[in-house]
Amino acid sequence: MKRLEGKVALIPGTARGQGRAAALRFAAEGALVVGGDLRHEEALETQRLIAREGGTALTPGPLDVTDEDSVRAWVEEAADAFGGVDIVYADAGAVRFGGIGDRPYDDFSFTPRAELDSVRLTVRAAWRHLVAGRGCVLTVGSTAGLTGSLTDRRTARSAAKGAVIALTRQLAAEGAPYGVRANCVSPGPIDTEGSRTGLPADGHPMRGIARHIPLGRVGAPDVVSAAVFLASDEASCITGAHLVVDGGWSAVLPGATP
Ligand SMILES: NC(=O)c1ccc[n+]([C@@H]2O[C@H](COP(=O)([O-])OP(=O)(O)OC[C@H]3O[C@@H](n4cnc5c(N)ncnc54)[C@H](O)[C@@H]3O)[C@@H](O)[C@H]2O)c1
Repeated sequence: MKRLEGKVALIPGTARGQGRAAALRFAAEGALVVGGDLRHEEALETQRLIAREGGTALTPGPLDVTDEDSVRAWVEEAADAFGGVDIVYADAGAVRFGGIGDRPYDDFSFTPRAELDSVRLTVRAAWRHLVAGRGCVLTVGSTAGLTGSLTDRRTARSAAKGAVIALTRQLAAEGAPYGVRANCVSPGPIDTEGSRTGLPADGHPMRGIARHIPLGRVGAPDVVSAAVFLASDEASCITGAHLVVDGGWSAVLPGATP
């Protein structure tokens, strides 16, 4: 028996990065995956990759997780096609970096809209289905939601991701009477298309960050392993949890080993 057999999993952000990795992995675990992305063609390619492995996926769209009508239509098409919603894995996000004095307000507000409002809109649209099926929510936080950073100017990102972590706990509270679970996975630096232009780029302050991570490496999209566990029945008594997947980066103070 696969770990997510027959579960309907909604995953926004499946064009690339962790969203594509999650879609492939969830499908391999038996989930019926509903993908979506602003980059519709690339999300359809993810669907084709799943089909090639014998999995089941649907990709209505294009999906814009910052647009309430777009999200609602996407959720309803998924629920109609598969008869409900068991899992919402609110992965899609986009960020503009900058310090507190660097950016005009409109620019600052882009990141919370893409990374926080998007979670609220997606979960809100799916809520009645989650309640009907005693489903679960997975959110994606970040170590940026836990710590400040001397090297990375990420004011909006830190504010948005800290709020995602808090929002998840509130969703756990509101979902508990209906058997709906909500948990958050917070990655540290992860090598994806989105981060590749930043982390390893010449001259970027985060270049070489792996040297400062206790386990010595930047993560790969396999952070979805944590999500698979939290979405599965093995985690049926876990809600309101916050699981950090960062090689110990946010837990261990920097310093030379003796
Ligand atoms: N990569 C990292 O180092 C890192 C670290 C911590 C947290 N995260 C979080 O992980 C999640 C996934 O990030 P990733 O690294 O895979 O990034 P990514 O840029 O590789 O992928 C993000 C996906 O979301 C899609 N997307 C963005 N805005 C959208 C919108 N409005 N509507 C629909 N789709 C949209 C993009 O097109 C893309 O396919 C994000 O929430 C991100 O904040 C990433």
